[in-house]
Amino acid sequence: MVKVSRKANFNAAHRLYRPDWSDEKNDAVFGKCNNPNYHGHNYDLVVSVTGEIDQQTGFVMDLKVLKGLIKEHVEEALDHKNLNKDVPEFEGLNPTAENIAVVIWNKLRPHIEKTKTLEIVLYETPRNFVTYSG
Ligand code: NI
Repeated sequence: MVKVSRKANFNAAHRLYRPDWSDEKNDAVFGKCNNPNYHGHNYDLVVSVTGEIDQQTGFVMDLKVLKGLIKEHVEEALDHKNLNKDVPEFEGLNPTAENIAVVIWNKLRPHIEKTKTLEIVLYETPRNFVTYSG
C-alpha cells in the first residue's frame, strides 16, 4: 500500500460556542474562539489517499484529479466563508478543527475509489492539527 497526499489551504471565520450555555461557560470552555464577532484562521489541509499502485499508470491516484476534487468540494465550499453562517454542515455543529476535518472527509469520500482509504489532516494553526480517517 502506498499513501499519496495533496496539500491545500483555505481561510475561514468561525465562532465556537453553545447557545444553550451561559456566556461564562462558553468563555471558560472556548476562550478566544468564543468571540461573538467571529475570527479567522488560515487552515492548512493534507488530503491523503492510500491504496495499491495501478500497474498501468503507476499511480495510487492521479493527484491532478485529487487537486480538482479538493478545489471543487472543499475550497469552493469553505474558503473565505463564515463557517457558522455560510456552510450548512455547521448549522447546529460547532466548527472545531475536529468537526471541520470530519465534514471535509464526508465531502470527499464519495469521490474516492471504494478500495482506497482517505485521511484528512487539518491544521488550524501551525501547532494545532487533527487527523480523521473515517
Ligand atoms: Ni478559532
